[in-house]
Amino acid sequence: MAETFTPSGSFLFPPGFLWGTATSSHQVEGGNTNNNWAEWETRPGKIHNGDKAGLACDWWGGRWREDFDRAEESGQNAHRLSLEWSRIQPEPERWDEDALERYRLMLRGLDERGMTVMVTLHHFTDPLWVVEMGGWENPKVPELFAAYVRRAVEALKTYCRMWVTINEPNVYAVSGWLLGDFPPGKKDMNAAIRVSANLLRAHALAYQVIHDLQPEAQAGIAQHYRSERPAGPAVFLNQIPAGIIHRNFNYSFLDAIRGGTLRMMGKRLRIPEARGTQDFIGINYYTVELVRLNLLRPGNQFTDRYYDPYAPKSGTGYIAHVPDGLREALHWAKSFQLPLYITENGTEDAMDATRPRYLIEHIHQVWRAVNWNYQVKGYFHWSLVDNFEWERGWSQRFGLWGLDPRTQVRQRRLSVDLYSQICKSNAINREMVERYSPVSLPSLFPV
Ligand code: FCB
Repeated sequence: MAETFTPSGSFLFPPGFLWGTATSSHQVEGGNTNNNWAEWETRPGKIHNGDKAGLACDWWGGRWREDFDRAEESGQNAHRLSLEWSRIQPEPERWDEDALERYRLMLRGLDERGMTVMVTLHHFTDPLWVVEMGGWENPKVPELFAAYVRRAVEALKTYCRMWVTINEPNVYAVSGWLLGDFPPGKKDMNAAIRVSANLLRAHALAYQVIHDLQPEAQAGIAQHYRSERPAGPAVFLNQIPAGIIHRNFNYSFLDAIRGGTLRMMGKRLRIPEARGTQDFIGINYYTVELVRLNLLRPGNQFTDRYYDPYAPKSGTGYIAHVPDGLREALHWAKSFQLPLYITENGTEDAMDATRPRYLIEHIHQVWRAVNWNYQVKGYFHWSLVDNFEWERGWSQRFGLWGLDPRTQVRQRRLSVDLYSQICKSNAINREMVERYSPVSLPSLFPV
């Protein structure tokens, strides 16, 4: 009788691979009343269910300590967090040394736990005084941002040499100035393009400041990559709008950083100072979208966009599970010939029913990329603990640990154990897949 063969083995990552989680200041700190999101919260109808960030995860109150302990104990060797400009520079002429000291403590806290630090300097929030002067539409803001970056990097460079200048400039510009679901809630294409150009100028200035102060630093942006696939059956027809959306949304910022010209919605803006201002590329990947031409929807770039009905969906349907989109993102990013980090990837799932599968199948795609010699250096899961999800409030739970924001009680989800095993063994193996996501066996270990 023929022996039955059970495929086994491990998907092993290179030594020194960074395994972490990502967070952002406003989403975890709590108690901030001095930025655009705090103000947005006060307006009826802007945040799902009228939710408020409130204490968030109370990191400003010191609970970062217990959360960093959790990260360390569960084998993470890196963490990505962001600084709050509105705390460091609460008014145009005032710098808050106490705020810088708190960030110093946090970064030292990571260092003491043996974790590599990645700091984001701008993650969707602006001080109110910046908002009052017109926010990112005002051409003076890039210089002001650079002054803040100088203070922050001077104060914190002992503990950090990896800087993300701006998180998802594409999402920030589109959500705030085109779709209107982020503050300032505008729907104005020209404003969105102006904002994009100013974000890019700010990135370029910040890059110079970082390297002046810390020549060995590594700096880049975190690019939200959303795969835009032409829907069938008229794939040929839908290829054109999908390509246009891809170029505008995924490609324009990195292209401008490579070549010094921002090409967006048919406009070309020369921003020569942006050229070459990137040492690595951060990829935030969540999902894939299908695109179909619809001439009746000019406001949606003449398209319908939707998820593959057969793809499993996250808790509230916000994310479709399409892991090979992450490999696509890495394949695309590789053409820039820079080191790559997955700076965000995750799913919202209060019940933790789909997260183990999401983790395994996405990390497996990262492994494939690594083994094709793509320079992927690390993976930061979004997120460490449930936190305030912008206009979606508390309705979506992205944490490995659950959180009750009222009691501040954390709840260990099963995914903690899985991710911990991945981080500690620097690999995915068959036992993990059998235990946490048997449904993934045929794709990872085909017979
Ligand atoms: C990303 C944001 C991050 C978080 C995740 C779910 O676009 O950068 O702050 O909200 O989505």
